[in-house]
Amino acid sequence: MSDHIDEPSSHDDTTDAHPNRREILTTAAASAVLTVAPLELRPQAHAAAPAPTASISTKMVVNGVAHDLMLDARASLLDVLREHLALTGAKKGCDHGQCGACTVHVEGRRVASCLTMAVQVNGRNVTTIEGLSSSSAALHPMQQAFIDHDALQCGYCTPGQIMAAIACVQEGHASSPEQIREYMSGNICRCGAYVGIVAAIQQAAPKIGRA
Ligand code: FES
Ligand code: FES
Repeated sequence: MSDHIDEPSSHDDTTDAHPNRREILTTAAASAVLTVAPLELRPQAHAAAPAPTASISTKMVVNGVAHDLMLDARASLLDVLREHLALTGAKKGCDHGQCGACTVHVEGRRVASCLTMAVQVNGRNVTTIEGLSSSSAALHPMQQAFIDHDALQCGYCTPGQIMAAIACVQEGHASSPEQIREYMSGNICRCGAYVGIVAAIQQAAPKIGRA
């Protein structure tokens, strides 16, 4: 018994009811063209033109050096420090005010530089981790204390931790480990170096004193 199945002949009266393979492929190809054609005919979407931005003259003193800058009004202090002034010590961890990696001082008080518009510090003094000690000078007592207590592992959070730690002491929040932990709670360390950080702040506090 043969298992060969004959193609229906042109005389087969079942042809009209059951299209052969050529007819099926022809129909499929035509419908594919019809599916694509409207996309090709669709007018190209025009990219939205970028909104014009205002540049604002901004003066600031960073680590004792005066800068006169023309800045995008929307620029954060963090971006200006890192991208205009090449001060990359302050880190961009979250860019949303949640990690503390970008902490710097403005007029001696800590700020999250990712949430601070650069134009807001016009005429003010900014201190970053780079400004704590020159390459020829001894480390700041807080920097030395972080080393002494192994208060870092990868170091990504460390510039922000140290700037916040100095503010913690100078603002009078370092009289107990509990107070330190509370004040420093906005500075996240993914390596979990918190024990060393608290110990470092306790060591450095008497050498810094309240501002
Ligand atoms: S980068 Fe500013 S708080 Fe995280
Ligand atoms: S030392 Fe790695 S995140 Fe703090």
